[in-house]
Amino acid sequence: MADSFDVRLEVLTADTQLVPRAKEEPPEFPSAGSSQPSFFLETFGCQMNDHDSEKVAGVLVGRGYRQVDSPAAASVILYNTCSIREKAAQKVFSRLGEFKDGQDGGKIIGVLGCLAQQEGQRIFSRAPWVSLVCGSASYRNLPELLAELEAGKRRVSGLDKDTEETFETEVTRRDHPFRAYVTIIEGCDKTCAYCVVPYTRGRERSRTSDSILREVHKLADADYTEIQLLGQTVNSYRDPSDRKLSFSELLLRVAEIRGIRRVRFTTSHPRDFGADIVQAIDSTPVLCDHVHLPVQSGSDRVLRAMQRTYTREEYLDKIALIRAAQRHIDITTDIIVGFPGETDADFEGTLSLMEQVQYAGAFSFKYSPRPNTPALHMADPIPEDEKGRRLAALQEKQRQIQSRCNESLVGTTVEVLVERQSRQENQWSGHSTSNRVISFTSSAEALVGKYVPVSVTHGGPNSLTGEHVI
Ligand code: 5AD
Ligand code: SF4
Repeated sequence: MADSFDVRLEVLTADTQLVPRAKEEPPEFPSAGSSQPSFFLETFGCQMNDHDSEKVAGVLVGRGYRQVDSPAAASVILYNTCSIREKAAQKVFSRLGEFKDGQDGGKIIGVLGCLAQQEGQRIFSRAPWVSLVCGSASYRNLPELLAELEAGKRRVSGLDKDTEETFETEVTRRDHPFRAYVTIIEGCDKTCAYCVVPYTRGRERSRTSDSILREVHKLADADYTEIQLLGQTVNSYRDPSDRKLSFSELLLRVAEIRGIRRVRFTTSHPRDFGADIVQAIDSTPVLCDHVHLPVQSGSDRVLRAMQRTYTREEYLDKIALIRAAQRHIDITTDIIVGFPGETDADFEGTLSLMEQVQYAGAFSFKYSPRPNTPALHMADPIPEDEKGRRLAALQEKQRQIQSRCNESLVGTTVEVLVERQSRQENQWSGHSTSNRVISFTSSAEALVGKYVPVSVTHGGPNSLTGEHVI
């Protein structure tokens, strides 16, 4: 999605300003041998990785590198990797395989992110042509690591996880012209039995509220209107400064910054989700009508085995808090099927919970065994075809729920942040505050970046269509 947007370079120092890359700037792709070093950066995985890549790109641009659009044009090739499920990890190794046997033409090849942290130095033995391996908890050391490579060192790695620090950069290269990601907490201290994140991203570290608010002020000054606060467990935020803002207080402070029209946050952990967050949303229209609250399973037995730290009933209590709000707040979720030992009855429990909650959207996955996780050696693995069957049944149920939910919006008017103009005449698309994709017709001009009212005329399972209300 990001590749169709203009790219912006944001410089986060007191006296410098955000510098957008001019649209008309001719693309230049210096060859590996040209004097200005260039880099290609491909990102796999979640929004945290997307945003880490923006920061990594910022660090490199700050060191005089130029970003290019293909590995062939780059002197440094970087993959910011994901290892949340096995497929994601395999994809990275197949990418790396393309540079086997010296086919890299002497380029520097680096592996960043979760797979780098998980595999560590083993990446050098599996792909000896790689020269940089760096996990996200060590990104603050990237400039030094790069300097060592520039000085001729053959291999460098940053695999430290036990850090108290967050990755703050002076320069961030933003991939979206109106929406900006802002990390407020890194790492994860939960111990979900299936999940590699606590292992790959290290301990939970929150940024000070001052630093976060300063960044949002600068973004607002640079005409960003939508802020997405990020963290693996964003609502576990704990302000390390004397101000000690709670997460909901931070939401309110971000929302009151002049120029900011929408504030989103993801991902929330049910255990740390309280009524104060709902009250904040309820009192402040800038806080979007959407909460992403991963449930993972609807069965108490499976939730316990997953070490999710809540029961089905406790989760449903959090849903009740959200449903009690004055305005409708959409709820989306993540669900895993086929966790070791999941019976048909457990799976039915997940389907019934979906029916009860009526999620506006759900990301669903087959359980994938991951290295270093407690679930890796759990008894009673579920066969792949059974996992596939459950996933298909769950997705079909969710499709029906979403269709009903989207159809119920026909006739209402929603506010849309317009993100693109389609090739078809008078066709535009964007997102509503509840994060639904909506395409609509309008004879107006230059709508991209604006907030416009759209009357919904049709609701499909995955998106809405409508007409601009002029
Ligand atoms: N297998 C399948 N899905 C997983 N997730 C995390 N770890 C695994 C795994 N080992 C899913 C969870 C999480 C989302 C980001 O990815 O649903 O919320
Ligand atoms: Fe993984 Fe659980 Fe932490 Fe989410 S809360 S990142 S699923 S360990």
